[in-house]
Amino acid sequence: MAQLDANDITQAVLDRMADCQDPRFKQVMSALVKHAHAFIREVELSEEEWINTIFFLTETGKMCDDKRQEFILLSDTLGISMLVVALNQIKAARAFQQSGGGAQTPTEATVQGPFYWEGSPEMALGADIGENMPGEPAYYHGQVTDTEGQPIANCCLDVWSGDGEGIYDMQMGEDAGMRLRARFRTDAQGNYRFWSIKPSFYPVPDDGPVGRMLRRMGRHPNRPGHIHMKVYAPGHQTVTTHLFVADSPYLDSDAVFGVRNSLIVPFQQHPAGTAPDGRRMDTPYHSATYDFRLVPAR
Ligand code: BEZ
Ligand code: FE
Repeated sequence: MAQLDANDITQAVLDRMADCQDPRFKQVMSALVKHAHAFIREVELSEEEWINTIFFLTETGKMCDDKRQEFILLSDTLGISMLVVALNQIKAARAFQQSGGGAQTPTEATVQGPFYWEGSPEMALGADIGENMPGEPAYYHGQVTDTEGQPIANCCLDVWSGDGEGIYDMQMGEDAGMRLRARFRTDAQGNYRFWSIKPSFYPVPDDGPVGRMLRRMGRHPNRPGHIHMKVYAPGHQTVTTHLFVADSPYLDSDAVFGVRNSLIVPFQQHPAGTAPDGRRMDTPYHSATYDFRLVPAR
């Protein structure tokens, strides 16, 4: 029979994938079709709403280039990115426990966000990536170990953040280049240290379709202050995460749902004077310490 009605159409789309040779793709696409059709039935979507959705997604795509990723922003603000991260971390933790686990809990992951820029400069331990940038200086230090507590030498910490006013280099205009981002390698004892600024809370880019969506939902666009880190070493699982500033606003209403209690770090205030690495500071500064725990790769 050629004609399908609103009741048979879902099954007809599913049946049309009978010859699909890729079982995982078939599973994902079947679930997508079922849930999308169920959603349309539930809200009784009008034709006008559907064409407006298509215009919204078109505008979202047109807003994307190598410095602006409106689709990541859409995924982040709808909680999709964080749900994917959290489910994958639960799965990895289960596999880790089944293979005997470790003495220490692995560092939790959170969203990568749209401001990661591959290939940032490698800098010596102790370097300052926040020099001449707006913001109060902060000294970051700690150790990277595996989940048995064994130090991981030569582990890469790829770090990036906005400045003290919450602006990322990618938002600073054509000529800014890379700022407030670098890669550091741990020493023989797995220790790392570097200087940057104490990051401020900031709004996710809200001058595009996602910003319009947030306002219409009655939501604010702000993220609590944080610094991003991608921590990786051969033989270990990479963790993409943040350190959140403990006294920042918006910790309880992050626009992208990325906060993890284990990643909230107190930033200690210090008066001008000699910093823990011997640097002479003419102004007050902050320090933050955090130890990362990587899971050995199976
Ligand atoms: C960020 O933290 O850089 C970020 C994450 C999600 C959306 C926008 C920005
Ligand atoms: Fe960020």
